[in-house]
Amino acid sequence: MNSFPQLRLRRLRRNEALRALVRETKVEVGDLVYPLFVVEGSKIKQKISSMPGLYRLSNDLLPKEVEEIARLGIPAIILFGIPQKKDEVGSSAYHPKGVIQQAIRAIKKTTPELLVITDVCLCEYTSHGHCGVVVDGYVDNDKTLGLLAKTALSHAEAGADIVAPSDMMDGRVKAIRQALDGNGFQDIPILAYAAKYVSYFYGPFREAAESAPQFGDRRSYQMDPHNWREALREVEQDIVEGADIVMVKPALPYLDVIRKVRDTFNHPLAAYSVSGEYAMVKAAAKQGWLDEKGLVLEMLTAIKRAGADIIITYYAKEAASWL
Ligand code: PBG
Repeated sequence: MNSFPQLRLRRLRRNEALRALVRETKVEVGDLVYPLFVVEGSKIKQKISSMPGLYRLSNDLLPKEVEEIARLGIPAIILFGIPQKKDEVGSSAYHPKGVIQQAIRAIKKTTPELLVITDVCLCEYTSHGHCGVVVDGYVDNDKTLGLLAKTALSHAEAGADIVAPSDMMDGRVKAIRQALDGNGFQDIPILAYAAKYVSYFYGPFREAAESAPQFGDRRSYQMDPHNWREALREVEQDIVEGADIVMVKPALPYLDVIRKVRDTFNHPLAAYSVSGEYAMVKAAAKQGWLDEKGLVLEMLTAIKRAGADIIITYYAKEAASWL
């Protein structure tokens, strides 16, 4: 093998044309998914204080928003709903006229080509803020499955293109697949939040979605941040149960997990660059401490380089205009 002075790695870095020619990773607008928070009511556009630039929108304001997203070339959105009424079993999550079900219909009328992914979980809809049914202070796995399946089915009935369970119950992918297949929705894919960690990076989201647990935490169902082998078991199980796309979440602090999943499985892989990742960059950029555009594009590149095909990011709209 050649070495210096015959070999000079800097030769291929001499100008932008050369660098572009040998570039290994490319981030494209087509890789991005933009999250949207939807509230009940009308003419509502509420700022989310820990996520500058993001809003909770009511249904009537969605058409304008999704037209802009589609115009930017972003192929997909993921929807989160904030209902007016919460109860013990998250009834409004699977109500046929729930906030998300109505949002899907409104969006599909305006921009039928824009892919609508729906987050399937109960935490925004339960009075206790947990992702499932609570029995004696503990989230009951098997009692939750039926409700998740009902929720996913109601999203498909409203016109969702992809359903994305984020609850971390065992067996949810199987339950959802059965419910979809049993009702004529065999062609609706499941994007499973397969390796979803307990994370302090979700803080701003919980403000945005009003979904913070009212007691305890999510450690008995979300993954322990210390583990990566377990992430492979989670992904494997979701694939066995029928997941079409798998996800690692958060993204930036878990690049090693993204890489492991990419090297082990052949399924399309998504990564969720979560609210805390967005908030950190926004806060630093506001102080003038970092170059926001450069930093965001570097982060997205790192997530793709680690092996993600799809990136869910609150920066999707800004990134689309920068790319
Ligand atoms: C719901 C859900 C959460 C996120 C996505 N779906 C929050 C949680 O698990 O508490 C977090 C997204 C983000 O922080 O951007 N289960």
